[in-house]
Amino acid sequence: MKKIIPIAFIVIYVAALSLALWFTVGGGAPDDVTSSEASSEAISEVTSSEASSEVSSVPLNGYEETEGYLAENAERYLSYAAKYKKLTKSEVVRYVNCGFDKPFYTDIKDSPNKDNYLVLVNKYYNLGEDFVPKDLKSLPKAYKSTSYDVQLAGDAYDAFIEMSDAATAEGYAIKGQSGYRDYAKQQRLYEKYLKNEGGNQAAVDLYSARPGHSEHQTGLAIDVTDGVKSMGNFGKTESYKWAKENCWKYGFIIHYTKENKFITGYDTEEWHLRYVGKDAAKEIFQSGVTIDEYLMGKIEATQAQS
Ligand code: DAL
Ligand code: ZN
Repeated sequence: MKKIIPIAFIVIYVAALSLALWFTVGGGAPDDVTSSEASSEAISEVTSSEASSEVSSVPLNGYEETEGYLAENAERYLSYAAKYKKLTKSEVVRYVNCGFDKPFYTDIKDSPNKDNYLVLVNKYYNLGEDFVPKDLKSLPKAYKSTSYDVQLAGDAYDAFIEMSDAATAEGYAIKGQSGYRDYAKQQRLYEKYLKNEGGNQAAVDLYSARPGHSEHQTGLAIDVTDGVKSMGNFGKTESYKWAKENCWKYGFIIHYTKENKFITGYDTEEWHLRYVGKDAAKEIFQSGVTIDEYLMGKIEATQAQS
């Protein structure tokens, strides 16, 4: 009996000590990782794989040496890196600084640059119900693959005609299938898809923007075909290969690719071309960054100046 009491005491003492240590190193409920399911997943990977010492003594993993490092984002870099293990430190820092680690459709802000072709609209930025671009023009019949009206705004219209003519001259074809869509139309489409998917919003979000979040509402985006195959099969055509290599010369970028899905949240859309102007398109094409990252950089530069 005399021996049992001290042993029980030691067992309780050790258990209490372990519990205290567990919470001190952050092994308890990740209450600071509310930003995303992804983050909580990532945090648990870090704590379980690298053990408590990493979190307590080497929390930055060398990120503090990376260009653009912000101390307030330190934990987010680790979470994001754990989720997307193939990213370099530089990519992690850039993407987290842009806010791409946040769950889609949370912390939504008003789209910047609404009055020009560097407008940013994605799952974090919304155009608002009333936004209608200026200078909308309807494509002539020869530049469309549908009997419906296909409209583009301002410079995007001229650039599309120029690109389509260049494609035709080289034996290819780029025809407009769907251009400007107002908020209400995007809403109708989204709701129709939602119904088709039995209410599965995550499934719809992979291919349709929620109202206010579509580049089609800017009048600067256009879905294209080669005039023969359906839009969904544009990626299989020779005209797509031409567009992929040449559309930047006319100010367009194919926005949603397999490589940038983790940033855009959309499945590949070879047919969706976004006008950003010739200078931006050249920089985006040559650097390989997403439109989203490029435009975020432009916005930050503008804010820094003002
Ligand atoms: N399909 C694209 C993502 C849109 O709905 O704008
Ligand atoms: Zn589109």
